[in-house]
Amino acid sequence: MTSQAGSKVLKYIEMLAQISQEDGKLTRLSLTEQHKQANALVGILMESAGMQVRTDAMGNIIGRLEGSSDKRALLLGSHLDSVRDAGKFDGPLGVVAPIVCLELLARQGITLPYAVEIIGFCDEEGVRFPSTLLGSRALAGTLKPEVLDERDADNISIGKALKAFGQDPSEFASAQRKPEEFLGFVEVHIEQGPVLEGENLPVGLVTAIAGAARYTVSVTGMAGHAGTVPMGLRKDALVAASECIVAIEQICLSLPDVVGTVGMIQCQPGAGNVIPGLVDFSLDLRSSQDSVRDDAEQQIYAAMDEIARKRLVTIDAQKTYQAAGVTCDSWLNGQLGHAITNSGYQLRSLPSGAGHDAMALADLTRIAMLFVRCTGGISHHPDENITVEDAEATVQVLMRLLTDFNPDA
Ligand code: GLV
Ligand code: MN
Ligand code: MN
Repeated sequence: MTSQAGSKVLKYIEMLAQISQEDGKLTRLSLTEQHKQANALVGILMESAGMQVRTDAMGNIIGRLEGSSDKRALLLGSHLDSVRDAGKFDGPLGVVAPIVCLELLARQGITLPYAVEIIGFCDEEGVRFPSTLLGSRALAGTLKPEVLDERDADNISIGKALKAFGQDPSEFASAQRKPEEFLGFVEVHIEQGPVLEGENLPVGLVTAIAGAARYTVSVTGMAGHAGTVPMGLRKDALVAASECIVAIEQICLSLPDVVGTVGMIQCQPGAGNVIPGLVDFSLDLRSSQDSVRDDAEQQIYAAMDEIARKRLVTIDAQKTYQAAGVTCDSWLNGQLGHAITNSGYQLRSLPSGAGHDAMALADLTRIAMLFVRCTGGISHHPDENITVEDAEATVQVLMRLLTDFNPDA
């Protein structure tokens, strides 16, 4: 039935990757020129699949296909932004696989009774700005207006970036949708881990998504001459920050089910012969249990207070983002689970340690996620990959979901 579909998915993934790829690595930050090009390409693909296309006030690209009787839409999609030096599949797979399904339905002359919307979210990774899930939170109505003042490394605010993107930031609240418009949200995503590959399964059903918090930590010491200030009299912000980073690792190692990552660090003034006076670093903390994450946070704050006292520096931690863990909806998971088994695949349920747009959409509608096996479990890396057979399996399961879906079950 879908013999060409897997190659079509990979072809669209490659077309999207070409927009932002250099030397085999891909970086597409939200609300940039490359993001605009990605939206334009996705818009063309959506139109050729028969959808009405628009960009909402937050820069999300949305296609809609009416059904024959039910105005409510099954929402499908994922994000079009990426991390730095990313692979091609994290995000785009969840946008292009549904488009390929709608192309197939059109070719087969099938009109679904309910509407389908496909969305390419503007920001899930939260790489450019301190906050994350900007597009999906705007849709759910949980994005506070003050977030628009957050700035990127070039001091450009989200509001200004939106304007340059062609949207009116004062209208951003209009991106919010109503729960009664939707039947649910299904996100297709690579697993980003090794479980499915280890069990030789192409797809899996997500049970829950781990909660996460992000912080910016500023360590202020005293800059000084590298040759004249004795070691014992220094207030070296970078050494203090290093101690904090090691303490974070130790605390996360000592607790069950929590992971902590410092992925960005900036040191000022940044000269080989100057003692560092100011260091900013990021912290990303996650756990499937919010209480364990809170515990880790408290222990990290206490350790940093102690380091600040000992090293005579000040340490200020700002929480820039927090999302509670969410459980996928049992009704929608039931329908997606049937689509998996009716397609001839074993039903393997597993939790997600990574964050996803579905987390934010849980405040708007019922959510479910389909995981797709990725080679070596590798993600957030240029080697991220899926096979054409697994792309095929993805379309097969999604087609089954769309054609068997019962809004009133
Ligand atoms: C997104 O990939 C995240 O989990 O941070
Ligand atoms: Mn990601
Ligand atoms: Mn993702």
